[in-house]
Amino acid sequence: MKRTEIINALQLAGEGQLINVRGWVRSRRGNKNVSFIALNDGSTIKNIQIVVDLAVFPEEQLKPVTTGSCISATGHLVASQGSGQAVEIQLTELEVYGTADPEQYPLQKKGLSMEYLRTIAHLRPRTNTFGAVFRIRHNMAMAIHQYFHEHGFFYFHTPIITASDCEGAGQMFQVTTKNLYNLKKDDEGKIDYSDDFFGKQTSLTVSGQLEGELAAMALGKIYTFGPTFRAENSNTPRHLAEFWMIEPEVAFIQKDELMDLEEDFIKYCVRWALEKCQDDLQFLNQFVDKGLIARLESVVNTDFVRLTYTEGIEILQEAVKNGKKFEFPCSWGEDLASEHERYLVEEHFGKPVIMSDYPKDIKAFYMKINEDDKTVQGTDVLFPQIGEIIGGSVREESLDKLNAEIERRDIPMKDMWWYLDTRRFGAAPHAGFGLGFERLLLFVTGMQNIRDVIPFPRTPKTAEF
Ligand code: 4AD
Ligand code: MG
Repeated sequence: MKRTEIINALQLAGEGQLINVRGWVRSRRGNKNVSFIALNDGSTIKNIQIVVDLAVFPEEQLKPVTTGSCISATGHLVASQGSGQAVEIQLTELEVYGTADPEQYPLQKKGLSMEYLRTIAHLRPRTNTFGAVFRIRHNMAMAIHQYFHEHGFFYFHTPIITASDCEGAGQMFQVTTKNLYNLKKDDEGKIDYSDDFFGKQTSLTVSGQLEGELAAMALGKIYTFGPTFRAENSNTPRHLAEFWMIEPEVAFIQKDELMDLEEDFIKYCVRWALEKCQDDLQFLNQFVDKGLIARLESVVNTDFVRLTYTEGIEILQEAVKNGKKFEFPCSWGEDLASEHERYLVEEHFGKPVIMSDYPKDIKAFYMKINEDDKTVQGTDVLFPQIGEIIGGSVREESLDKLNAEIERRDIPMKDMWWYLDTRRFGAAPHAGFGLGFERLLLFVTGMQNIRDVIPFPRTPKTAEF
């Protein structure tokens, strides 16, 4: 018999029709006359209840139906007599696909810690929380593609293996086929990469932006959406060594329009979640973060604050004067710590902030330098609970200024002639940003740790699964 997915079965009126469902047993309880199986197949957070008449199915036959086992159940869909569900299935035929020894199956108990669940990341999608998170993750990916498609952006694939360091922060994982047990070095102790696979030193990309800029100089509006890698040794709830980034790049826009795009895009994604992930959000709101849905609604319905870095520093220093204690000092020229960002967003304004015009020395080489020659047109979006969720900027389109900056920073640009060519041939004003996909998911799900919004997190000293 053809399988009905539980999400669809729960929509049907229970008129006694015969249906078949298949999934994993969440629990089985009952008495000596009747047994109730809660079955979940991942299509929705909701379980379907299967009622088993023990006069028809002897206990012996039901024995393998334990938490975690996988079954196929056929029966009549009827209106439920119990509260908590509209319909249930009266079992007529049972097939056990796979058992799960109760002595060994790790997901028996409720209330397992997030830390423990990370050690069984291969099974945690079967919990309510992770089922919800990964369905929302899928929905957010769809929202992102839909937003850009609707707005005339082209999805452009940038390489994962690269020879350039976009952010210039030297946090790259090397890619090589060289035999590390027999690594030859020259007289100066340097490694000769000319006989390596690509004939030069290569790494995993930290950002698709540089190639994205080339594409914007031809297609006008593009976006990338792919995995990016950072070998930064940051063991925080907001950093991964492998994360997914969405990077739109747009020709002919200026700073205000860039900020408009950042705000419009992120609101669209949050609105999508509120509309399309109601069951999962309600679950998370009840069991993970009681303020979640209210926070999502407030972001959709509020204008983001637009603030320059300099104004931000003034507010922070004023707060310090009035007795606010921060762990790190904040003075003009220093990068803001997460506590500073969160003070502005959560305490001072109580809404998201787009901060712009940062000191040039704390930002990347490609940002457009302002007239003051001190600040650049970076436009980061700071979010409650998260801190920086988007990093963006207007790009420096002048070849001379860009070259001067590259020289000043001593950036090895010999492999980046192609990037500079965009400033040589038909240079145009342009701007773009990068949204950390998992940071967005932290916000949308209310989860506390970035390791819990990606199926298989990669962090320092962890690459299990
Ligand atoms: O601010 P970042 O470093 O900017 C760039 O990479 C630019 N090239 C983007 C662009 O303009 N096209 O990173 C962008 C965003 C951050 O705001 C943050 O959300 C996320 O990427 N991010 C991380 N997410 C998880 N783990 C990490 N280690 C991250 N580093 C950055
Ligand atoms: Mg940044």
